[in-house]
Amino acid sequence: MTALGLPRVHLRETTSTNDVARSLASAGAPHGTLVTAGAQSSGRGRQGRTWSAPPGRALLLSLVLRDLSPMLPLVAAVAVTRTCGDDAQIKWPNDVLLDGRKVSGILAEGRPQEGWAVLGIGLNVAIRVEDLPPELHATATTLGREPHELEPTLQTLLGELDRALALDTSALLDAWRARDALRGKPVRWTGGEGVGAGVDGEGRLVVELPGGGQTALDAGEVHLGTGPAAA
Ligand code: BTN
Repeated sequence: MTALGLPRVHLRETTSTNDVARSLASAGAPHGTLVTAGAQSSGRGRQGRTWSAPPGRALLLSLVLRDLSPMLPLVAAVAVTRTCGDDAQIKWPNDVLLDGRKVSGILAEGRPQEGWAVLGIGLNVAIRVEDLPPELHATATTLGREPHELEPTLQTLLGELDRALALDTSALLDAWRARDALRGKPVRWTGGEGVGAGVDGEGRLVVELPGGGQTALDAGEVHLGTGPAAA
């Protein structure tokens, strides 16, 4: 497989880098094709959410990958945490947190039957939290770097993605578990609650249930909340 990041398309503004990358992938773009943008008008998050970032202060990128793996969301989370530093943690499946606040989100989308996946990453490199929509002020954070550090941070991230993609499943899970923000923490979802107990070999969140026993949650199906259940 060729290096990540080539060819590269940079757009001053677009709707969503994932949408651009998906079109390129459908048209045959090679493994490693990178789409970056200074701003997005319709940035998309997981489970139908939107993704906001002030122009020129965040990494907004999507990669076309043709080396498909069901572990891609976990691979990406490991690479992003390593880019963010020793204190960064992962909130399953792949939100990256600093001090309990979200600094990066990852949206992996694929068409396995066409042989491609698109890995979208938003990383708040140099944003000021007060420039985000008010509803994000309590939950979002920033690396606190300067806008001129966007490009070096991107190069670090591409290197970390290369490294993480090369890990075998056991090493990947070890790396992911070392950054697990939910281990031992209360978690709740539609239909249940319990205590985070790591990820299983397929990347599902293992939860210890209040009555004893465990369950495994699938990222595609579960809307996760953290903290104790509301009274
Ligand atoms: C999430 O946490 O819900 C995932 C957020 C993913 C955001 C990135 S920004 C670059 C790429 N383009 C998009 O429209 N979304 C992803």
